[in-house]
Amino acid sequence: MSPFPGIKELPPDPLFGLKARYNADSRSDKVDLGIGAYRDNNGKPWILPAVRQAEQKLIHSPEYNHEYLSISGYEPFTNSAAKVILGADSSAIKEGKIVSQQSLSGTGALHVSGVFIKQFYSGNHTIYLSQPTWANHKQIFETIGFKVDSYPYWNNETKSLNLSGFLNTIETAPNGSIFLLHACAHNPTGLDPTKDQWNQILKALDKKQHLVIFDSAYQGFASGDLEKDAYPIRKAINDKLITSPIVICQSFAKNVGMYGERVGAIHVIATTTEANESLNKAIKSQLNKIIRSEISNPPAYGSKIVATILNDPELYSQWREDLVTMSSRISKMRNALRQKLESLGTPGTWNHITEQTGMFSFTGLTPDMVDRLEKHHGIYLVSSGRASVAGLNDHNVDKVANAFDEVVRHFGKSKL
Ligand code: LMR
Repeated sequence: MSPFPGIKELPPDPLFGLKARYNADSRSDKVDLGIGAYRDNNGKPWILPAVRQAEQKLIHSPEYNHEYLSISGYEPFTNSAAKVILGADSSAIKEGKIVSQQSLSGTGALHVSGVFIKQFYSGNHTIYLSQPTWANHKQIFETIGFKVDSYPYWNNETKSLNLSGFLNTIETAPNGSIFLLHACAHNPTGLDPTKDQWNQILKALDKKQHLVIFDSAYQGFASGDLEKDAYPIRKAINDKLITSPIVICQSFAKNVGMYGERVGAIHVIATTTEANESLNKAIKSQLNKIIRSEISNPPAYGSKIVATILNDPELYSQWREDLVTMSSRISKMRNALRQKLESLGTPGTWNHITEQTGMFSFTGLTPDMVDRLEKHHGIYLVSSGRASVAGLNDHNVDKVANAFDEVVRHFGKSKL
């Protein structure tokens, strides 16, 4: 008899399985539009100039070492990470309303928040995710034991936000449920609410006293501007539009281009109305206990580099320039792809490619088309039709447009 009765082999992860297939493909002109990782105009990973300079500064510093961090992480990192997301003059920071801990990037932040909420939150343990959402969200929360539900987000007919469906779910969910929001550059649709829509969403969430988790994995990637991309978070917290608990899961994988270093933070705001020192101390100690039992203490190297950037005015301004370099190259590629498809007369409309924002385009290609792109053209994207626009460059955009044209004509019509 098996020592693990009932165990079954699972299919590969949708994103990392795609990456493995891409890596195994021997075609020299293959194109990777799969995992959301920035590439330069030659399709190569890009080490940000701010990161290169910070690394030099760090390793030549007399204090440089490889000692353990505290369980909460590297304080110069967590403190400045809170300022990046909330603004340097955030009243919530000044008034001590925030508990910040280092995490294993965004996924680690989501997981630790989930374990914490599951253990201590008195509200309804159903978490609502956007429909569609990042492939990993569901399993992160299901594994912890949450009931996972969804709120309508993408309207396929109009290629825009299903605001009424979203608001309706907020209103009909039991009071004190949990809502996971993408702070900006929604993954996979590239569609963000407008400021006015955000205000309506935040007010509706507050009315029902739902606990809000913001997943902030792309700050700076949507607009190139850290402040603009933090709009809903700053509105909810600094302007106290939400009074129920808020958790921010912040990743620096994409915006600092340090994917493999797993740099991230969790920020818990028990309530925006007033600071509660003893509650915050209790939250911090419980988060510490979870972190200690799971990873002992967070990794040091990446967080020290990010802290070096965030605490040095010259490096900080270099980083802001680097964000503009990345977001404007992506935007140029959106335009190039759309123009080429339009000049080919590819059936369907393609304006959504330039209207969407962040790393991804929700192309509207069907799973059949995506499969044909991979098999016949060596072009890899997620079966939902999500393309990582960062994988496009001046050398491959024509090939990609021609291939999109071929598969759309082959199957008749895209979803959009
Ligand atoms: C993505 O959605 O492609 C990225 O967030 C990478 C990942 O970990 O899934």
